[in-house]
Amino acid sequence: MMKPTDHGKTIQAMFSGIAGRYDLVNRLMTLGRDAAWRRSVVIAAGLPPGGRLLDIGTGTGAIATEALGRDPAATAVGADFTIDMMRAGKSGDLGRRILWCAADAVGLPFADNTFDAVTSGYLIRNVTDPLAAFGEQVRVVRPGGRVVCLDTSPPPKNLIYPCLTFFLSRVIPFLGERISGDRDAYTYLPESTRKFMSPETLARVMARAGMIQIRYQGFMFGTMCVHQGTKPK
Ligand SMILES: C[S@@+](CC[C@H](N)C(=O)[O-])C[C@H]1O[C@@H](n2cnc3c(N)ncnc32)[C@H](O)[C@@H]1O
Repeated sequence: MMKPTDHGKTIQAMFSGIAGRYDLVNRLMTLGRDAAWRRSVVIAAGLPPGGRLLDIGTGTGAIATEALGRDPAATAVGADFTIDMMRAGKSGDLGRRILWCAADAVGLPFADNTFDAVTSGYLIRNVTDPLAAFGEQVRVVRPGGRVVCLDTSPPPKNLIYPCLTFFLSRVIPFLGERISGDRDAYTYLPESTRKFMSPETLARVMARAGMIQIRYQGFMFGTMCVHQGTKPK
């Protein structure tokens, strides 16, 4: 695996620290909606029967697990640079079927055109170079295959903006500290969300990385978004 940058090491240490409680905090923070968004990711990936999926920034493998649950004949590679996150996801039945792989999103250890689809959940907000990460995803997906990205979006400035910012800046750090014991990690989450690209800008980055037919759909009052793009044939 490539050597992570200093930013990468900070991210790895943060996810190692919360790995054991990651899924539980996610479930509570999203009021149980996270499973539905991951389902949308797998549907958007449009895997053919028995297809090959790469889920990069897989963490505990939730997206790869969803894909295997929908099609037991599929092959799912779950790749991440935080080993403790993958270790936490390994135990379930489907977790044992994921092909776990230590990899950095900006230097994937796979040949060109290897996968039918590439997915990521909450990865792009954490990488220093989203264009390079998408470039790698486009490289390893086959022509005509999809790249799908689930991530948070800065809260839209509408009537409920004050409620959303209260939830992000107060409720999430509080819940995170109570359940995982790590307030910093769950302060980073809303901060990185606030500073992250808008869905429109993220779509433009995907286009610059070489994707076509880019679409996106917002969830949770616009604070969550699933983008999809296709590698040209
Ligand atoms: C918020 S977790 C998301 C996990 C999972 N995808 C999900 O939907 O719950 C982000 C994951 O991205 C991984 N990650 C962040 N930067 C990465 C990079 N440059 N290369 C590989 N994995 C990375 C972290 O280690 C972490 O497991």
